[in-house]
Amino acid sequence: MSAPKKLFIKTYGCQMNVYDSERMAEALGGQGYVETKSAEDADMILLNTCHIREKAAEKVYSELGRFKGLKAEKPDLKIGVAGCVAQAEGEEIMRRQPLVDLVVGPQSYHRLPEMEAKTREGEKALDTDFPEEDKFEKLKSRPKAKRGPTAFLTVQEGCDKFCAFCVVPYTRGAEVSRPADRILREANDLVERGVREITLLGQNVNAYHGAGPAGDMTLAQLIWELDKIDGLERIRFTTSHPNDMQDDLIEAHGTCAKLMPYLHLPVQAGSDKILKRMNRSHTAESYLRLIERIRAARADILISGDFIVGFPEETEEDFQATLDLIEEVKYGTAYSFKYSTRPGTPAAERPQVPAAEADERLQRLQALLTRQQREVQDSMVGRELGVLFEKPGRFEGQMVGKSDYLHAVHVQAPTSQVGDLARVRIVSSGPNSLAGELIG
Ligand code: SAH
Ligand code: SF4
Ligand code: F3S
Repeated sequence: MSAPKKLFIKTYGCQMNVYDSERMAEALGGQGYVETKSAEDADMILLNTCHIREKAAEKVYSELGRFKGLKAEKPDLKIGVAGCVAQAEGEEIMRRQPLVDLVVGPQSYHRLPEMEAKTREGEKALDTDFPEEDKFEKLKSRPKAKRGPTAFLTVQEGCDKFCAFCVVPYTRGAEVSRPADRILREANDLVERGVREITLLGQNVNAYHGAGPAGDMTLAQLIWELDKIDGLERIRFTTSHPNDMQDDLIEAHGTCAKLMPYLHLPVQAGSDKILKRMNRSHTAESYLRLIERIRAARADILISGDFIVGFPEETEEDFQATLDLIEEVKYGTAYSFKYSTRPGTPAAERPQVPAAEADERLQRLQALLTRQQREVQDSMVGRELGVLFEKPGRFEGQMVGKSDYLHAVHVQAPTSQVGDLARVRIVSSGPNSLAGELIG
């Protein structure tokens, strides 16, 4: 038998890309590939890319340039670009960087095996279609390999919201929900393989409306079906849009014990003028009222957010409105970005904010968010929380896991194993994590 070919995948961008990289590795597994952690060893290198901001997209080309030497040494090495840059730029990638053999968009991953075979014949392979067939079914995983305790599971993909700054509706396509029975099958399979926590993924995950036994299901209904799976201890979902936060989902946060008290609910900005220009179709006020309703269902829920500063025509006053909103919500975690002009999006045509101004605002915003995050994290000290152990810590007998609120927690737990869900008393809060001790 010939030695297995080696595949090196580097993943950029969001969690959906992480999930997709796993599926691509499985698809190429059928072609005799095993994964390697070193590009130097690889027979195929795949970059799973992100197009969300200019920097993310440009990184791909500098990374590709670094493989020149490798390809010269190893003419059989195949280099592929997948993900959202592949979708957005297509053939242009091969023109700009001729060492690329394969370009595959996010909706065509199930065609990878044929595409790989084509490159082995010395041809270039390009596929950025939005095909009709269900790629998830075609990507069904192979042998039942044991898995770590946490997993992502894509339930919805694409977006119809067209926020004025965002490339996702173009790179991921229209919003599509997977049928519930296939998701439940995949979830059961993950649990059999050792998974205890599943994070449901979608660009607009709370717009989920996949087919169920009695018509379309909401995300909350899907969560209640997952709740029935023995051995599955925790359910999370991301990312949600404020306008799709339905009543039954809010309610589930108060009543479904497996649904973790954590909600990523991006608002982007606090000024109604800017929100309107962003085409967000919610106001600062409607967002704040929504947060109130969510907290009425689950008082201790940790709220996470995304923010863009320096959106076209953002004034100091608009920016102040974002700071005010943050003060009112109190975020437990947050991701904040300087607006990045994306060709082809409506906001790219609007008067831009000078970079120095946007930089300065981003610093002020991040200072506030960092302070809030630290306060929320510090408030965990003295509490008893569930911690799902994900790996051994740096010290003898130590485990590291995530709390219900997704904070990293270090615990002295010599007899515990990866995958254990322990009760832990939080004793201290450090710069990036909590420390706790086992109860009982
Ligand atoms: N579907 C999610 C997130 C999409 S992308 C949502 O609706 O919120 C993740 C985050 O990247 C966005 O929430 C936004 O804050 C940021 N982002 C998207 N486009 C951007 C751009 N052009 N410049 C800067 N940040 C951007
Ligand atoms: Fe992008 Fe807006 Fe869709 Fe989120 S809701 S993916 S920010 S267009
Ligand atoms: Fe990036 Fe595409 Fe995800 S643009 S954030 S990898 S959906």
